[in-house]
Parts: sequence; structure tokens; C-alpha cells
Amino acid sequence: MSGLLAGKRLLVTGVITDASIAFSVAKLAQDNGAQVVLTGYGRLSLVERIARRLPQPAPIIELDVTSPEQLAGLADRVREHVDGLDGVVHSIGFAPQSCLGGGFLDASWEDVATALHVSTYSYKSLAMAALPLMSPGGSVVGLTFDATKAWPVYDWMGVAKAGLESTSRYLAVHLGKQGIRSNLVAAGPLRTMAAKSIPGFEQFEQAWTERAPLGWSLTDQEPAARACLALLSDWFPATTGEIVHVDGGYHAVGA
Ligand SMILES: NC(=O)c1ccc[n+]([C@@H]2O[C@H](COP(=O)([O-])OP(=O)(O)OC[C@H]3O[C@@H](n4cnc5c(N)ncnc54)[C@H](O)[C@@H]3O)[C@@H](O)[C@H]2O)c1
Repeated sequence: MSGLLAGKRLLVTGVITDASIAFSVAKLAQDNGAQVVLTGYGRLSLVERIARRLPQPAPIIELDVTSPEQLAGLADRVREHVDGLDGVVHSIGFAPQSCLGGGFLDASWEDVATALHVSTYSYKSLAMAALPLMSPGGSVVGLTFDATKAWPVYDWMGVAKAGLESTSRYLAVHLGKQGIRSNLVAAGPLRTMAAKSIPGFEQFEQAWTERAPLGWSLTDQEPAARACLALLSDWFPATTGEIVHVDGGYHAVGA
């Protein structure tokens, strides 16, 4: 098998539709020589249907990233399909509606805690669950939305992403001795199921369409997926705790 990820064994979370960033990652990874194991959350029959659109069959393991039992059993379940992992992709995010769309001042701690558990703490949980299968050279990659600024409508999801960015840096510190990297891709707005659940998301769409120096497609997940592949590959061997912006250059532009 040839390609950027030839011979690599990857665990990819977060496929729910064929617009999912994770779907593009899984597809491109297979096209580039990787063996892919998927995890699915909730509607597993839907994940199975979407997975059939991949170039090659990919086993699917059920994983609610907030479930201690499922996390504890993850390595054994992955081992039924591959004898180790070279890369793990965290493409998971969720916040209750009260946390998004301008309700920042009113969201309850219970709702905020859910957002942080699923979107932030889970990055560490997933990495630790997969760690027994990983060895030096391994790579953990997640998806963020630039959390250096307070955006309109993103509210507690923005806080969750700021925490995710910090979590990735701490993971880089704690897993560095084992030769395992942790990096994030900061994608611009993409029309996925998660994005559609954010009231007012069209404000991001308009801003990016008007101002990204390179222009920006709201429906092309491939640039973000390509960056994930690069970070999973052997071509960033000395990069960890990093955030790569795949946003058409938007982050570099002043108001
Ligand atoms: N779409 C965008 O504009 C955009 C931009 C930057 C970053 N991101 C990030 O990309 C990642 C993937 O999102 P997407 O846009 O592809 O949307 P998506 O809706 O396709 O994917 C989100 C995934 O999270 C999963 N998920 C939710 N709760 C879970 C749980 N408890 N356990 C396991 N999985 C769970 C869902 O099943 C789904 O597969 C998220 O971290 C998101 O915040 C998205």
C-alpha cells in the first residue's frame, strides 16, 4: 500500500453524516494507505450506512466518550480489528442548546458541564483509552474552532474549545516522553450536523465568505481533513501542542 499514511492504523471518531469532518478524514486516510477503525455514537445504524460510502469497509465500535465503561473497553475492542494504533482522531463536539446562540449569561452549570465533558475532557479520555495500543511516533489529532477570541453565538462552546486547546497542550506535555504527539486543526466554518445546531451559525458563514484571504468553502471538508492527515503522518515528527489553522487565512486578518 502506498500513500502518505501507508501502513498506519487509525482510530477515527465522529462520523455521523457524510458531511462530518471525520468522514473526510476516514476517506482520505483510506485513499492514502491507512487502515481505519471508526467509533460511532448514538445512531449506530446511521454510522454504518455512512461508513458504507467509504472506499473500503471500516469496522465500527460503539463509543460514548463520556462513558467510563466504554472507554475502559475501547482498547480491547479495537484490538479485535488491528494490533495497534498509529493515530487517533478526536472529531467530537456537543453543547446543549442553552450554551449556544447568545444564552451565555443564562446557561446552567449542568449544561455547561455537559459541553465540557463531551467537547473538552473527552480529548484526554479518548487519548488515554487508546494509549495502551500506541507507541512512539503515534499521533493524536483533534478539531477546534479558533478559541483565542469570543465569537458571537458560539458562547460556551467557545469556552469548551479554549479548554480543548489547552488540553491538547497538556497532553503534548504528558505524552511527549512516550513519543506521542498531540495537535489540533482549527477549521473554518463547515456545514455539518454540529454546525447546523448552532443558532446564528450563518454569521460565521458570512464573515468567512467575505473576509478569508484565500476564500472559503462552507461545504468542502477536505482541506481540514488533509491537515489532519498531515499531522497523523510522519511529516510532522517534531511538532506537538500545535494548532494548525485551516480557515482560508481568516485568523490572520484584523477586523
Ligand atoms: N463544522 C464546523 O464548522 C467546525 C469548525 C471547527 C471545528 N469543528 C469541530 O469538528 C469536530 C467534528 O464536528 P463536525 O463539524 O464534523 O460535526 P458532526 O456533527 O459531523 O460531528 C460531531 C460528532 O460528535 C459526535 N458526538 C457527540 N457527542 C458524543 C459523545 N458523547 N461521544 C462520542 N461522540 C459524540 C457525534 O456523534 C458526531 O459524530 C467537532 O469537534 C467540532 O467542534 C467543526
